[in-house]
Amino acid sequence: MDNLSQGITEWLVEDNDASRTVPTPGYLSRHYWWAYIHPWAVKFWDHLPIVNMILLGNYSRLRDAALREFDGLHNANVLQVAAVYGNLSPGVADRVISGGGHYDIVDVLPIQLENVRRKLVSIRGIRLLNQNSEKLNLADASYDKVMLFFLLHEQPEAAKARTLAEAFRVVKPGGKIIIVDFAKPYRWNPFRYLWRVFLAIFEPFALAMWWNDVANMIPGYARYWPMRRELFFGGLFQKVVISRPG
Ligand SMILES: C[S@@+](CC[C@H](N)C(=O)[O-])C[C@H]1O[C@@H](n2cnc3c(N)ncnc32)[C@H](O)[C@@H]1O
Repeated sequence: MDNLSQGITEWLVEDNDASRTVPTPGYLSRHYWWAYIHPWAVKFWDHLPIVNMILLGNYSRLRDAALREFDGLHNANVLQVAAVYGNLSPGVADRVISGGGHYDIVDVLPIQLENVRRKLVSIRGIRLLNQNSEKLNLADASYDKVMLFFLLHEQPEAAKARTLAEAFRVVKPGGKIIIVDFAKPYRWNPFRYLWRVFLAIFEPFALAMWWNDVANMIPGYARYWPMRRELFFGGLFQKVVISRPG
């Protein structure tokens, strides 16, 4: 059995039913089969030039902005909610594992976990968990950092709210939630007009990230937790870091 199967089996055994796999959410199979589910999709999309093209040339800036949040960690417990294309996860793994920490990556699709496994140099200190972000089988207040990299814009409102509730539930006091995703571009940004059409066609839930501030999506009890935001590419992308008071 390879390490990936061990990781998944570990969780399945915990769940006490080795035959169970997590059902694919309807929004994924309806709207994102072409991006994540079909084996050819994984082979086609997971290349840096393609990921970079989708993010309009901003992949390395956004990846590095996320990675900065993991610099200088010691014995940290890190959770990434949903696998991502590109080389963000190997970068996080480097930082977390060399600092003596643990890194969990959750995804609802086993094919995506297999794909991440392929990109990791080693699985030591890392668990790949087949779970739904809307209902994590993870303990309260157990992670120092919880990252959501371009997940929220793919989820319908109710799924997004449940995912955020779970991310906030599992972060430790003193820990951080890191969100990198779309935001509403400034008026002068031509992509405010061009990208709106693209998103409306290909990413039916993404424009909600334009109209709603992340601050209004998070659980009510966390609205006054310290939050910092960085905008990129004329406001089309944002990194939001929310700190749970210690
Ligand atoms: C993080 S998002 C978008 C990533 C972005 N396109 C990229 O690659 O940088 C894509 C991942 O989210 C996962 N995903 C979507 N809904 C999920 C859910 N409810 N629970 C766990 N994973 C989910 C998909 O299976 C997919 O692997």
